[in-house]
Amino acid sequence: MEKGIVTSPYTFTGDTIGGEGLKTGVRTLADLQGIFADEAAYQAMDKDTLAYRVESIEPDPQGTPGGLYMGITYLAPGKVGKEYFMTKGHFHLNPESTEFYWGVKGEGMLILMDEDRHVWAEKMVPGSLHYIRPRVAHRVANTGDETLVFAASWPSDAGHDYGTIAREGFAKRLLEINGKPELV
Ligand SMILES: [Fe+2]
Repeated sequence: MEKGIVTSPYTFTGDTIGGEGLKTGVRTLADLQGIFADEAAYQAMDKDTLAYRVESIEPDPQGTPGGLYMGITYLAPGKVGKEYFMTKGHFHLNPESTEFYWGVKGEGMLILMDEDRHVWAEKMVPGSLHYIRPRVAHRVANTGDETLVFAASWPSDAGHDYGTIAREGFAKRLLEINGKPELV
């Protein structure tokens, strides 16, 4: 089909993404049950509190080989006990698949864990670029006092394995100790 010069159906302004088929997902504290260490602190909080929102462009159906997705996550500041608000975290169902994350606004930490349960973290700040290698679980914590905004691009056949992390967690937690984030 002859197309000539057209306008892309998608937009990206740095901290917003938009266009055809934009998907939005919201997670409240209710959706994060069981991921925080301090169960009493969790129970005392309003479960309707917004934890994060993800907006994504997924041009091809999930599972399409060779496709790419892109999304932006807005992760609220806050703590449950000493533990920062964070995303659920996942491995990819397709274990060979990789992903880029990059920091847009605010301060956070990308927490990574390999299949031998070794945990490490990379500081996420505006302009930081993070390459998530195969077989590495990943989650992001907001260590600042403003909304953390980060973008991501991942393969459309990566898939999400949330179950392993829901059952086994990460081997270390990111807690605020003496006013600073520490992996313990
Ligand atoms: Fe991922």
